[in-house]
Amino acid sequence: MRDQAIKSAIEAATWAPSVHNSQPWTFVVTGEEIGVRADADRKPREGEREALIGCGAALFNIRIVLRHSGWAPITRILPDPDRPNLLATVRLGEAVTPDESTRRLVDEIERRRTHRAGFTNLPIPDRLVETLVGQAAEEGGRLVPIADPRAARVLAALTQAAQAARAEDPEVRRWSRPPGSPRGDGVPADAYPAEPADTGFPQREYVWGIDTDQSVATATGVVAVMTTPTDSRQEWIATGQALQRILLHASVVGVSAAFHTQALEMPHLREFLREEVCAGAYPQMIMRLGVTFEETRGVRRPLSEVLD
Ligand SMILES: Cc1cc2nc3c(=O)[nH]c(=O)nc-3n(C[C@H](O)[C@H](O)[C@H](O)COP(=O)(O)O)c2cc1C
Repeated sequence: MRDQAIKSAIEAATWAPSVHNSQPWTFVVTGEEIGVRADADRKPREGEREALIGCGAALFNIRIVLRHSGWAPITRILPDPDRPNLLATVRLGEAVTPDESTRRLVDEIERRRTHRAGFTNLPIPDRLVETLVGQAAEEGGRLVPIADPRAARVLAALTQAAQAARAEDPEVRRWSRPPGSPRGDGVPADAYPAEPADTGFPQREYVWGIDTDQSVATATGVVAVMTTPTDSRQEWIATGQALQRILLHASVVGVSAAFHTQALEMPHLREFLREEVCAGAYPQMIMRLGVTFEETRGVRRPLSEVLD
């Protein structure tokens, strides 16, 4: 039973979001402890910040699947200064009775998908946004809904500037997968429309895409930024955990997220955002939240490729 719980937890970890679906992680099992390691070969060009956010999201999945399997997870973040690529260890603690809310989150792990177009006009209740803010805080992340239209325009403008400056980004091409690709990583062609949606927030220009009817879903949704007070590796892992926690909570009620993190990859734009929009806190993720009825396919590498 314990072995099965560990295997399920690692399988679930692979379904975490990661920039370009680069899946910048490996997992190692020692006795009853799972180690989450950063895979240096898969580190994005921009450095390790985005990679660690993805690994933090994977760590969150491990924790809730272990709890769902009946064990309280005991987590240590960056446990060994001599092994900086070992981002976290999780071991099975005392037996717990899994509750209904944990089950609901676990059910969303594979179903959750990144959205890359407009949302329907269905509104997101303020209460849900408040809940997500609270859930992020539980993991040490600050989710800041951008209610001020002026601030939202600044964010959109910076995203446009970053996207224009990096229009033919080789990193984006590198992770774009053609239709029918058997690869278990990168962004599949059917995960985004061929014609970018007009939400004010441009998408990264992955190469292929599919034809979709975009006339029905044109809303931008709720714009939000996730921030941290400092900019350490610890905070990046915390951001990933907070991100995955809110994404799963949102997914339970049919709300999806679209990400627009281009500006955060350009240090001067990120610094501008920090000062002008985030009151000095460090922006880690930029997202839109909304309702979509589209379902896209997710791809991942098999366990055999990620387990050391
Ligand atoms: C740190 C980080 C940054 C991301 N930035 C973007 C982005 O700018 N644009 C985008 O479309 N998706 C972005 N994503 C989402 C990933 O592309 C997505 O998680 C990955 O392709 C896997 O697909 P899935 O989330 O549908 O499972 C980001 C994810 C992470 C963790």
